[in-house]
Amino acid sequence: MKHLVSIDDISEAEAIQILDLAESMADVNSREIKKLPTLRGKTIVNLFYENSTRTRISFELAAKRLSADVINFAAATSSVSKGESLKDTAQTLEALGADAIVVRHPMSGSAHQLATRGWVAASIINAGDGSHEHPTQALLDAATMRQSFGLNVGSDLAGLRVLIVGDILHSRVARSNLLLLRKLGAIVEIAAPVTLTPVGFDSLGAEISHSFEDSLSRKPDVVMMLRVQKERMSGSYFPSAREYAASWSLSGQRLSLVQKNAIIMHPGPMNRGFEISSAASDDSRSRILDQVRNGLSVRMAVLHQCLTSGETK
Ligand code: NCD
Repeated sequence: MKHLVSIDDISEAEAIQILDLAESMADVNSREIKKLPTLRGKTIVNLFYENSTRTRISFELAAKRLSADVINFAAATSSVSKGESLKDTAQTLEALGADAIVVRHPMSGSAHQLATRGWVAASIINAGDGSHEHPTQALLDAATMRQSFGLNVGSDLAGLRVLIVGDILHSRVARSNLLLLRKLGAIVEIAAPVTLTPVGFDSLGAEISHSFEDSLSRKPDVVMMLRVQKERMSGSYFPSAREYAASWSLSGQRLSLVQKNAIIMHPGPMNRGFEISSAASDDSRSRILDQVRNGLSVRMAVLHQCLTSGETK
């Protein structure tokens, strides 16, 4: 594996291998000296054209824990603001010796372009391209599910029922999760208003619902809430924030319909009181901070796999 652009790039066995490796990385992260020499001498650039807290910081820390040199590039403060293209920016970074470029970009397909056009020889890792994909988020979510349900190294997620709720249409997290969870044998249901339901998710294996209550009555093991991605909306998708919250928020009342042994997830950033109540995000079933913790070990595993595959320079 040289690049990780889409969940479609990896087989079920490769996904499980990454999850297993992430568990070993988590052991490293609990040691007193949290460092491995694996990527010493490698240079990793975080090329971020969109805001990020968790993803950028955890990729940076992951690179450092593996002893790589890491450069953080924020498009807003770079020559991108002077009109430089993605191609020229990437080639500049490569001329400076980047072995891997971790890219987040508002345009769907940008990471794919970098990986396939031959502009650069570096490994390309997609940290979110528009409303298309966010593969490391899906992997860290799967790692969190395995951990929460006590599933051993080597296991898939067969039989687990996962409900993904909210703005599915604009969510790269939802698409990557659907692809990965189906690959790992989980049952995936998406629940969203009709206007925020993308075309074609049923043919990717999702069950589709337009009622949160009906979906909860099917007793999901995982309830994954998504943020309403206002920055990607060009029109009006629901009448008002209040009406959205009335039907789609994981409110205190809906929380009482979530099974006792189920877990609650959210990729962050959360809008408390909108798509998720404080009661739900702070509930003992919430795994939101475990997702952040697992993000670090999963990204260590992904950087390791992409940069030690023998194909990179
Ligand atoms: C998500 C993203 O950027 O796609 N966040 C994340 O990476 N943790 C989801 C979001 O922005 O709502």
